[in-house]
Amino acid sequence: MYLKFYGLETNPFSIAPDPRFFYGSEAHREGLAHLQYGMSQQKGFVLITGEVGTGKTTLLNLLLSELPTDTRIAMIANPKLSTNEFFHLTARAFGLGEIRDKADFLVRMGQFLETAKKNRQDVVLVVDEAHTLSSELLEEIRLLSNLETPQGKLMNIILVGQPEIKETLAKPDMRALNQRITLRYKLRPLTRQETREYILVRLGRAGAKDAEIFSMPAIDRIFDYTGGIPRMINILADKAMLTGFVKDIRTIDEKTIDECAQEMEMKPPAEEDHHLQSRIAIGTRRSRGSGKPLGFRLALMLCIILIILAAMAAYWGREVINPILSILSERFF
Ligand SMILES: Nc1ncnc2c1ncn2[C@@H]1O[C@H](COP(=O)(O)OP(=O)(O)OP(=O)(O)O)[C@@H](O)[C@H]1O
Ligand SMILES: [Mg+2]
Repeated sequence: MYLKFYGLETNPFSIAPDPRFFYGSEAHREGLAHLQYGMSQQKGFVLITGEVGTGKTTLLNLLLSELPTDTRIAMIANPKLSTNEFFHLTARAFGLGEIRDKADFLVRMGQFLETAKKNRQDVVLVVDEAHTLSSELLEEIRLLSNLETPQGKLMNIILVGQPEIKETLAKPDMRALNQRITLRYKLRPLTRQETREYILVRLGRAGAKDAEIFSMPAIDRIFDYTGGIPRMINILADKAMLTGFVKDIRTIDEKTIDECAQEMEMKPPAEEDHHLQSRIAIGTRRSRGSGKPLGFRLALMLCIILIILAAMAAYWGREVINPILSILSERFF
């Protein structure tokens, strides 16, 4: 809707995990390197985790798009399956045809892997949303990885999911699988600087010319609200551009971002940070003096000293106390 208004050819902030819009943040590059290394070294299991919307599927799609065209790939994107459904789906994805049962599946998989090995083809089983896998299915996948030759693994298995998968893998009955995961990487959100680059890269790929569509403070506000989570950035930036178009705003400012974020009931994590900052500041002030004004603290100290001196006078007599009192009165009064 707003494309023409902002001089764009395509939607810059679609939420599809489209590798053409890939921005290589440090974390995304590292994540990709782990996947590529796992594939090239026949590492067996690779695990990529990351919070919701951080770009796991985008990373996978990029990896898959760059693999040699003869690579045999099975991508299971929704693994909430029974074991039987999983066998059928995997068999279909590898082109094994209809299978009768688990035994039939294993026999055909064995033959398939041998043929791929002879043809020097890589085989990869990718499970996205792997945190939703049942323990039973995880165990079946582990057993699949037993189909190996003395020269090394025949199949790469990539598990991608939200961080809670680590809790499942930490369970005692998952020890065998956990040990086989030779490479793991946790994707983190973008930093403030990366968020700036991310937005500009996506706008550029969508055909934006030099015109400033978002002001720099607006981009920083987007980071404040989204914490650098790419999907959240896309949703907020898309909404801001629609609002900008409706209100005829050529360069979107931070006020527009605030309005859109409020409409979308987004709370800035930065606000929590600000609270934290002020808590830290209060803490620092307190540690210096309980948050009370300086005059009050001095008066309190003097009172305490006078009480101590009065007690000492009562005990030792005036000869000891008078010189101390005169020193104090010279200093403070
Ligand atoms: N490095 C990146 N470069 C460009 N776009 C990205 C990048 N990372 C994420 N995105 C964008 O963010 C959105 C969410 O990404 P994606 O679907 O890959 O996240 P996810 O981690 O798989 O989320 P979920 O946990 O919900 O499965 C997509 O629109 C995607 O294009
Ligand atoms: Mg995903």
